[in-house]
Amino acid sequence: MDQLSVEHLLGIKYLNINDIDLIFKTADHFKEVINRPIKKVPSLRDITIANLFFENSTRTKLSFELAEKRLSADVINFSASQSSVKKGETLIDTVNNILSMKVDIVVMRHGNVGAGVFLSKHVNAKIINAGDGTHEHPTQALLDSYSIREKLGSVKGKKIVIVGDILHSRVALSNIYALQLQGAKVKVCGPTTLIPKYITSLGVEVETNLKKALEWCDVANVLRVQHERMDIKYFPSTREYTQLFGINKEILDNLGKKIVIMHPGPINRGVEITSDVADSNQSIILNQVENGVAIRMAVIYLLAQQIKR
Ligand code: CP
Repeated sequence: MDQLSVEHLLGIKYLNINDIDLIFKTADHFKEVINRPIKKVPSLRDITIANLFFENSTRTKLSFELAEKRLSADVINFSASQSSVKKGETLIDTVNNILSMKVDIVVMRHGNVGAGVFLSKHVNAKIINAGDGTHEHPTQALLDSYSIREKLGSVKGKKIVIVGDILHSRVALSNIYALQLQGAKVKVCGPTTLIPKYITSLGVEVETNLKKALEWCDVANVLRVQHERMDIKYFPSTREYTQLFGINKEILDNLGKKIVIMHPGPINRGVEITSDVADSNQSIILNQVENGVAIRMAVIYLLAQQIKR
C-alpha cells in the first residue's frame, strides 16, 4: 500500500509531491463516501483521536471531528479555555495525561509556532498540526489546492494570488509551499506592512496593486486581517484597507475574465470581501469547507495506516 513519507503532518514543508498526490487520491475516495446516503466507513474503528484546541476554531475543529466520526474513530475533544491549562498545567503534562487514556492520534491547534513539532518529539502519538501560530496550517492548504484542482482541473501552471494579511497568516505560508510543490505560480498582494520581508526568498512575487494582481491571476485566495495577532497599527484604518485591498463585484466585473475566489474563513464581510462576491458563482468558499472533511479523512486515514496494532 502507498504510504506518506512523513510520520506526522506538521507542515507542508515536510511533504513531497507524492505525499500530496496520495492525499488527493485518498480524498477523492472519501469525497465519494461522504456523498453517499450512508456517509461512514468502519476503517478506524480501533483508533482513538484527541482534538486539542488551544486557540479558537469553527471550521477546522468541526471538520476534523466530522472526518474522524466518518472514519468510525473514537473521538475526544479538548478546549484549552475549559481545561486545567488555566490552572498552569504544561502542554506536555496535558498531552501525556490525555495519551494515558490510550490515544493514537492528536490533532492540535496552538498559538505557538512549532508547537506540533515540539509535541511530536515528546509524546508517542501521531501529531496533526491544525494551525500553529503564524506558521503553518497544512490541512487548510491541502483542501485549498484540492479545491483549485477540482475547479480548474489541475494546480500545475495556475496563477494564484494570496491577498491580505500575509504577515500573520499560517494559511498563506502553507499555501505557498503546497502550490509551489504542485507547479503553480504564486504572488502575494497586500499593504507592504503586512507582507513579510522574507517572502521573496520563497520565490513569491509581491504586487501591491490589487487590480494588477487580479488581472494576472486565475485564482484569488482572500485572507482576513488578523487583528487579534497585531499589537501595533499596520494601516491607517479598516476603511482605507477596504478601499485598497477589498474585493468587490465592480473590481471583478471590470477584469474582463472570470477568476476563482477563495477564502479560508472566517470572513469579515465588507472588509476584505463583499457579500456579493463571497456568495457569487465565482466563489468556491463552501466547496473548500466541504473538501476539508474529505482531505482530513485522507490525512487521518493515511497516518493511521502507519500505526502498528
Ligand atoms: N480556516 C480556519 O482555520 O478556520 P477556523 O479558524 O474557524 O478553524
